[in-house]
Amino acid sequence: MEVYNPTSFEADIGSCPKEWESGPITLDMIDRIICHYVPSNEKGKITMNKLEQLYEGKAKKVFSTEDPDVVIVSYKDDATAFDGLKKGTITGKGAINNQMTNFLMQQLEKAGVPTHFVEELSERETAVKKVSIVPLEVIVRNVSAGSFAKHYGVEEGIVFDAPTIEFSYKNDDLHDPLINDYHAVALHLATWEEIDQIKKYAFQVNDFLKAELLACGVTLVDFKLEFGKTADGTIVLADEISPDTCRFWDAKTGEKLDKDRFRRDLGNVEGAYQEMSKRLMGK
Ligand code: TMP
Repeated sequence: MEVYNPTSFEADIGSCPKEWESGPITLDMIDRIICHYVPSNEKGKITMNKLEQLYEGKAKKVFSTEDPDVVIVSYKDDATAFDGLKKGTITGKGAINNQMTNFLMQQLEKAGVPTHFVEELSERETAVKKVSIVPLEVIVRNVSAGSFAKHYGVEEGIVFDAPTIEFSYKNDDLHDPLINDYHAVALHLATWEEIDQIKKYAFQVNDFLKAELLACGVTLVDFKLEFGKTADGTIVLADEISPDTCRFWDAKTGEKLDKDRFRRDLGNVEGAYQEMSKRLMGK
């Protein structure tokens, strides 16, 4: 292991404050040394530590880090449905959802959809950009199912000519009611520009995911996205993309490979998550 030596460090980067040679080692000194010596793809693994828990949701915890612009998301195996009325555990879900989300977000980023992803730190933990979440659940549907089938009195499985989009107002006290874009703007949940950008990204995500899943023998029925705003106001894809937040049906048999197995007590819940992990990521 390379031992820190102020003189060689000075020679390498051309600056070493005088006080470094006598004073105590400070976090700033450690940061500068890490910045200089650690390759950028390894940085998060060394510098990212969970400091304070900022938030605990139904499926994830969020922690602050030394970097004010980065937080760590930790995925849990806990599952809820029907507004938290049904509770359970899906063993291994946290690790699968974390890795599947990161796998997909990295590809989406390359396809032109900015995301909050920074770096996967472990099986169930990821460093992400700190954002303020736009309080809208953005739901895209390709096939009728779930609340769409219920609200409009149709069977599940009708393939739409074109995808639909809808928003729910993320508000637990109000039970996430459906909301249209005019209402969202009236309530200052987002501006028209932000909503237009969000819709564009949501359909881009749909195009990408639909094709990716079809190649694995899976029909993308519908899914829910959340977006966030970074400190400079940029809209980025946040939250997760996983069997918790999407409906995946086997393209041949129609077998459900998502959280509906938990919601509807269909059995083999863990098996469905594992099957999706294998089909998409080969593990
Ligand atoms: P819905 O048919 O129940 O409205 O669900 C549409 C999609 O949104 C489905 O893929 C599951 C996902 N979803 C969530 O991710 N979180 C939620 O709280 C709900 C109700 C749905």
